[in-house]
Amino acid sequence: MKNVTIAFLGGGNIGGCVYRLLEDMKQEIAARCGLGITVKKVLVKDRESFIPNGIPEELLVFDRQEIMADPDISLVCEFMGGEHPAADFMLEALKAGKTVVTANKVALALHWSELQAAAQAQGVGLYYEASVCGAIPIIATLNGSLQANRIDRLMGIINGTTNYILSRMYKNGEDYDLVLRDAQALGLAEPNPAFDVEGMDAAYKLSILASLAFHGRVTYEKVYREGITGVTAMDIACGKEMGYVLKLLAIAKRDGNRVEVRVHPTFLPEHHPLAQVDGSFNAVYLYGHSCEDMMLQGFGAGTPTASAVVSDVLNACTAPAHAFPAFANTAEADASLHFTGNWETRYFIRVSAKDAPGVLAKVADCFARENVSIATMLQKGAVDEGRVMLIFVTHATHERAMQAALSRLDPEIARLESMIRVEE
Ligand code: HSE
Repeated sequence: MKNVTIAFLGGGNIGGCVYRLLEDMKQEIAARCGLGITVKKVLVKDRESFIPNGIPEELLVFDRQEIMADPDISLVCEFMGGEHPAADFMLEALKAGKTVVTANKVALALHWSELQAAAQAQGVGLYYEASVCGAIPIIATLNGSLQANRIDRLMGIINGTTNYILSRMYKNGEDYDLVLRDAQALGLAEPNPAFDVEGMDAAYKLSILASLAFHGRVTYEKVYREGITGVTAMDIACGKEMGYVLKLLAIAKRDGNRVEVRVHPTFLPEHHPLAQVDGSFNAVYLYGHSCEDMMLQGFGAGTPTASAVVSDVLNACTAPAHAFPAFANTAEADASLHFTGNWETRYFIRVSAKDAPGVLAKVADCFARENVSIATMLQKGAVDEGRVMLIFVTHATHERAMQAALSRLDPEIARLESMIRVEE
């Protein structure tokens, strides 16, 4: 049996889940992997802020040097979250010759090149399955199981909080603010939920997934981002009537060297596999030229995240050699990729229009002048203060053409209420 001594940087919720899972699986880990894993030290800020979670208090340390300088510790799991000091501590651990397992998408997306370079220089490992979509093995799938593919398209529901909010709004017609308060009360959304609802969490994760899928560095800055704070119950209801479900989608597409990476609210046809992914579930749907269509679904946060962390620990301890992501190790976006904001998709446009002869023709003319073709049109509801609601779904068109068409609208005649992209 091989005995491995490890330490945690962070002893919060995920740290507690990982500790308990390692304890729970001790016998299976010994039998299946021939491994004995001992957690020797857990770095926390101070004893007072530690909330009992199964980690024995005698393991707590308050100075990271107790871990960095301990020659017994060969592997460090990082659960601190955020960019700093997590990235600095991981770098320090790698430079001290310790393999790092992390669940931290922010530190990884922003400091991937330095972390990876340090790991390679020391011949140690950097494992990050838990950083994207918790328990779903999407990193292993992209890095390993789908090697024989050129992946051209990847779309994901990769933030559970926003999916919970949008699912409730879709099912019950509830308002955004009310559902958000419930999500906070349930502990799904943070007290400051901006990181989730503004789409940052999904954009960090997409930067990692797209880099792996396209074998080229897709930095966080390249990801176009819109959150769900402007989504209304009215948009969701109108979309539902037209057979669409609203999701916060992370989308990465590649056509030759032309790449688009974007996170924004998106309507999907109700029969689309991603449209069925409800509540706090995550899912990634992708197309590879040899595997064709594929979807992976599971829980992206909380206790199931420990499944990915412990698997990484076991893989790291049993790997004959540490593997590294197969794309250029650079801090910059891959220069061979051309990132575009002028993607082509369909659009759901809702306007509040004056109820008068010729108004519809005027709106249609704004679209026609930019060569935007209308696929469906719906007039909804009663006349309210002399205005009616008009909804258009376009055929596939370019983002710039759509924006140009919308800028032609005269708000006195037709005021734009919402513009939501539609994927197939
Ligand atoms: N805040 C994330 C989510 C979980 O709601 O999916 C951690 O990645």
